[in-house]
This record gives sequence, structure tokens and C-alpha cells, in this order.
Amino acid sequence: MSCGAGAPKWAGRCMSCGDWNTLSEELDVAEPAPVPMVPPSAPTPITEVGAGSGQPIPTGLDEVDRVLGGGLVPGSVTLLGGEPGVGKSTLVLQLLAARARAGATVLYLTGEESAAQVRLRADRLGALDDRLLLAAETSVPNLLVHLEAVQPELCVIDSIQTMHDPQFSSAPGSVTQVRECAHRVVVAAKSMGIPVILIGHVTKEGQLAGPRVLEHVVDTVLSLEGDRHHDLRLLRASKHRFGATDELGLFSACDDGLDAVADPSAMFLADRRLDVAGSAVCPTMEGQRPLLVEVQALVDPSPLAQPRRSVQGLDPGRVALLLAVLQRRVGVELGRSDVYATTVGGVRVVEPAADLAACLAIASAHVGRALPPDVVVCGEVGLGGELRQVARMDRRLTEAARLGFAAAVVPASSPDLDPGLAVIRVATLAEAVAAICPLD
Ligand code: TYD
Ligand code: MG
Repeated sequence: MSCGAGAPKWAGRCMSCGDWNTLSEELDVAEPAPVPMVPPSAPTPITEVGAGSGQPIPTGLDEVDRVLGGGLVPGSVTLLGGEPGVGKSTLVLQLLAARARAGATVLYLTGEESAAQVRLRADRLGALDDRLLLAAETSVPNLLVHLEAVQPELCVIDSIQTMHDPQFSSAPGSVTQVRECAHRVVVAAKSMGIPVILIGHVTKEGQLAGPRVLEHVVDTVLSLEGDRHHDLRLLRASKHRFGATDELGLFSACDDGLDAVADPSAMFLADRRLDVAGSAVCPTMEGQRPLLVEVQALVDPSPLAQPRRSVQGLDPGRVALLLAVLQRRVGVELGRSDVYATTVGGVRVVEPAADLAACLAIASAHVGRALPPDVVVCGEVGLGGELRQVARMDRRLTEAARLGFAAAVVPASSPDLDPGLAVIRVATLAEAVAAICPLD
């Protein structure tokens, strides 16, 4: 099963996690290899436990450090997942090169590409350095020998699905192999104090291939996302034992590798057309960083009995709720219209602070009139049509002012603000609509 559970005979559905069609046949090892006895370490008073070894070491790539909360902690194991071709190998090679340039010895173990292919790529990325050691390796015992011999300050294994442990008869990439290999790597990383990055593939459903237990044995799970038709790549943490998981790393893919996006708000707004109905700009927060995002809507008379609602980058359930509030509390009649709502640039905005932007984009599309081009809107919409304040309003509006916006529509209850632009306070969604998008 993809969740790691076992079954004595074939079954269509996993009894443990309920997923369909995830069973694959593997032999259970009858006798597990003997585990060497390790003398137990005596418990120590918590005040005497050293905290020094837990300090993160910067990787040299600021966007990665931002997501990791400072860098990689020695002995930690990080799983980097992503679809084939999204840029995982490129990113780790840049990361290794950055550490090598800073004087660290680093090790790249590749099971996917030959050493020559990696060298070619490194050439292209400007990542050649004598301290970057390379080995093509797929066997876990050999890999551990390399780790022991080199004692690198950072090790990357590309990818966990190509590694195998000869103790087990199943094929590389199978549940048993992935789980056991990852486990052995984790034990070695912890005992030697070496930070290790494991690369993992995701299935077409977007889940990490291999058993879900893989996510439990590692300390950090990162995912690199992006559309192969766009340059934008997003790095997120879905699990992080050493810090928060809400930071977002942004890269743009170029011929010479992944570049950090210096001014993401400006990039997201670069192609914005000012005179088109159905566009609203919202200052959102991604972790500690404000990000201005354009929300677009299109409202079209529907030929269908049940009109279409198509949503991208926003929560579809949330948008359905907002449509109901717009109809009942503001009187925007959408029952016979198809409604499309998206965020621009491939970002996903799930925080309620974008409610107001979605509502005003839809209202603007409905009346066919553009919103004032230099206004941002931000606030959570309640079922009663009231506007509720959101966190960090000051930080959001300062970013909007920096990018040249002249005014902001915010909930009336927001704290005192001095962001350098005009603040329009409104108590309800109806007031907001009346203020910048009158219906008649
Ligand atoms: P690669 O790093 O091999 O993806 P993954 O390891 O996730 O499968 O990248 C796929 C291809 O895209 C590779 O041929 C190099 C190219 N590429 C660039 O040219 N520039 C970039 O910034 C990135 C990310 C990839
Ligand atoms: Mg790769």
C-alpha cells in the first residue's frame, strides 16, 4: 500500500488509509537483520543538554534559507519532492555549489544521472568546485561507506527512489526499499551529524511516491512546485521540525539555473492591465513576507441549467461561500451566470484576507466596470456580509504603498495604520462595493 500498510492477499482498497488501487506485491522479509546493540545513553538533565549542534547552517541560497528558517541543521534529513523536470536536481546542485564556494566539502550521490551528465549540468550552472564531490551510486551500503569516508558537510541523494538495499529483494522504488533505505540514511545522518537532502519523486496525484512513512522519518519535507509552462518555481515546507512551515521561496527558472525572485510583488503585477473589469489586487502574507497578488474574475451569462463555477489559486469552497454572500447581502445576482475566479502567476492564496479581493473582482466583472487601478483591497468577509480585520495589516499596506498604490480598502475594525497611502475603512461588503464598484 502507498501508506506502508500490509495485507495478506490482494485487495482493491487499503483497509488502513482507504485509498484505492495502491496495493503492490512485495515479499515480506521473514527474518529481519540483527540490529547491533547500542549501549543506551544515560538520561541527562534538560538544562545540561547542549543546544549548540541544533543551530541551522545557512545554505547560501537565501530563498532556501527563508523556507528552512535559517538553513540546514546538522544531522537533519530533508526530503525534497517535486514532479519530474520541475528543477529538483538543478536546485540541489546550486545549493551544493554555494556551500562548496563557502569552503565546505559537500557530496552529491546520483542514482538517476551519470556522473558525466551531472558534470555537464554543473558546467552550465557555473557550479564546478573542487570541494563538490560526486559519486554515481545506487546501493545504500556503498552510499553509507561514502558518507563515512568523506564526512561531508552536506550530502544530497538524488533520488531516494533509485536507491536499493541488497538485503531486500524488492525493486528500487518499491515501498519496502524506499522505507528501509530512507531509514538507514536517517540513522547514519543523525549519528554522523551530517545534513542530508533526499530527493523524492511525486506521483501524478501530487503525492510523494513511496510510503507515506517516508514523511514521518525525515525532519523536513520540502516541495518544489511550478508549471512547466511558466518560469516561476515555488518552494514550500509542509513539515519542518526546526521551524515554521509558512514561508515561501520563489525562484524563476532560467538557462543558467534557478534565480531568486528579488521583488515578487512587482513580478506578479507586471502584466496587469489596468482598465479591465474583474481585477482586484490584494496584499497577502506568505509567512513573514507580504506579497501583492492580483485576483481576476470573469462573469458570463450561462447557457447551462447549473452555471459553471471555475476556481484556480483560491479555495473553491470559499469562493462558493463568497458568491452566496454577494447575492444575499449585496444583491449581486449571479444565479444565471458562469463565474471564473483565478489568481495570477500560479500562486495559491488560501488566507481569508483575500475574500474582499475575490468579491470585488467578481462584482467588478458583473457590472463590467474596472476598479480604480491604484487601490488594493484586503479583508475577511463574514456570512453576514460584515468585514473582519486580518493580521499584519500594516505590513501589507506598506508593501502596497512601496509599489505605488494610492489607497487601500480595509475593514473598519483594523487598528490604526500609517502605511503611506489613503486608508478607506468600510464595515460591510456592501459598503466596499458602494465605495469602489457601484452596482448602478
Ligand atoms: P531538473 O533539475 O533535471 O529537474 P528534476 O531533477 O526535478 O527532474 O530540470 C529539468 C530540466 O530543466 C533540465 O534539463 C534543466 C532544465 N532547467 C533549466 O534549464 N533551468 C532551470 O532553472 C531549471 C530549474 C531547469
Ligand atoms: Mg533530477
